[in-house]
Amino acid sequence: MVAIEINNLVKTYKTGTKAVKGVDLTVAQGDFFALLGANGAGKTTIISILIGLVNKTSGTVKIFGHDIDREFDQAKRLMGVVPQEFNFNMFERVGDIVTIQAGFFGIDRTNALKSSEEVLKKVGLWEKRTAMARTLSGGMKRRLMIARALVHKPRMLILDEPTAGVDVQLRFGMWDYLRELNSQGVTVLLTTHYLEEVQQMCRNAAIIKEGEIVRLDSVRNLNKLIKQETYVIAVKKMQPLSGIESYHPVVVDEHTFEVNLNRDEQLNDLLIKLMEHGFDITDVHPKEQRLEKLFLSLL
Ligand SMILES: Nc1ncnc2c1ncn2[C@@H]1O[C@H](COP(=O)(O)OP(=O)(O)OP(=O)(O)O)[C@@H](O)[C@H]1O
Ligand SMILES: [Mg+2]
Repeated sequence: MVAIEINNLVKTYKTGTKAVKGVDLTVAQGDFFALLGANGAGKTTIISILIGLVNKTSGTVKIFGHDIDREFDQAKRLMGVVPQEFNFNMFERVGDIVTIQAGFFGIDRTNALKSSEEVLKKVGLWEKRTAMARTLSGGMKRRLMIARALVHKPRMLILDEPTAGVDVQLRFGMWDYLRELNSQGVTVLLTTHYLEEVQQMCRNAAIIKEGEIVRLDSVRNLNKLIKQETYVIAVKKMQPLSGIESYHPVVVDEHTFEVNLNRDEQLNDLLIKLMEHGFDITDVHPKEQRLEKLFLSLL
């Protein structure tokens, strides 16, 4: 079963901006998929078309087989949406915000209350159900957005930069939660600028540049595309770097140097060599995320 099927999608805004230029994209049911790209690449435009906030210029979009031109209501029921900005009424109570949303999907009061309780417990906000939304912390507000998006039990969750401006601690918590949802069968589509996020959570990713998909692959394969990796090696005391010239070592300071490894070279082999040369290694870490490098090379 296919969750999203996009064919030759084009969006030209009234201003003349060609935001999406013929995108083809298929996202399988159960996938954890990232739309990755720089500011203005067209990520939000694509998502807005899927959820009916923006009219496409041409092309077709199907959500779990439902063409959004002909069966938008059916398509909409299957999607839960978490926009980037908080867009609930700050003066409403947490429980009401979620229950009312269920009502928008035609869920009767009894079931709406039941489902609200379920999702609020899931995101850890049940204790806050009678609190005014504006009294929640930033992290709680974001969880409220997710609870609201899930109350009608969608098969797919769409999040536009879910962790933008979110502190590291909360980000990790959200990753765990989204992974858990995905493991329960919910398809997840998100946009992000954070490459680490893609590497930690997503199975597949499309890299978008100026309205076009420039690469679509598994995150694993995207990682593999990088031919070389730079490691930063810290040592107690610097020794002559003879014998490891093939790794193109570059001295950073008296305790640190960098080396380049080709994909077929093992880090362990190098470390053993270094120890044989009398280096006392205190730390080794990759200089940059591999995907970061690929990403930058595609921009
Ligand atoms: N309502 C609009 N009217 C006119 N142009 C728009 C509109 N919304 C977006 N654009 C333009 O379309 C292009 C794509 O914008 P979009 O918001 O889809 O990018 P994005 O990838 O989501 O960027 P970001 O990472 O900054 O959120 C940009 O050039 C933007 O200026
Ligand atoms: Mg955007």
